[in-house]
Amino acid sequence: MSAPFRLLFVCLGNICRSPAAEGVMRSLIEREGLADRVTIRSAGTGGWHVGKLPDQRMRTAAQNRGYDLSSRARQVTQNDLRDYDLVLVMDNQNMRDIRTYDLSSQFGSKIRLFCEFCSHHKDREVPDPYYGGEQGFELVLDLLEDGCRGVLAHIRSALP
Ligand code: 4NP
Repeated sequence: MSAPFRLLFVCLGNICRSPAAEGVMRSLIEREGLADRVTIRSAGTGGWHVGKLPDQRMRTAAQNRGYDLSSRARQVTQNDLRDYDLVLVMDNQNMRDIRTYDLSSQFGSKIRLFCEFCSHHKDREVPDPYYGGEQGFELVLDLLEDGCRGVLAHIRSALP
């Protein structure tokens, strides 16, 4: 079988949005029987929370929708842009930050804003929920559930 498609979600801290994206996407990929054809990971542009589980508020909100978030935070590395086929960032600041790793500007086409893949929400970014209330975490999950369906369709079209 050919090498799996490699998908990386990126946010700032890797404890709220991108691990939730990883959990939502993995659930969808498993349900579709594609688990051995798609590798899903997440990372943060910042390093403050490296090694930690996702934020408890994000874990609880995700658990309530049936997603188990158990990844450990890590920081984006130079090699990520080489190693992943698609890198989906949550907001424009993440986009600016990750582009600083693309020293020779060769990976621009594989770095995309997650919200491009949403079809029911008009938001251009997945807002950072860290300093806000519970409803911010619900909005994150709403956006992720919408966009991950679009990401699934995109990956299906890219699989050999
Ligand atoms: P995330 O949220 O980027 O969705 O993981 C944040 C988590 C932590 C911080 C900021 C955003 N922080 O400043 O520590």
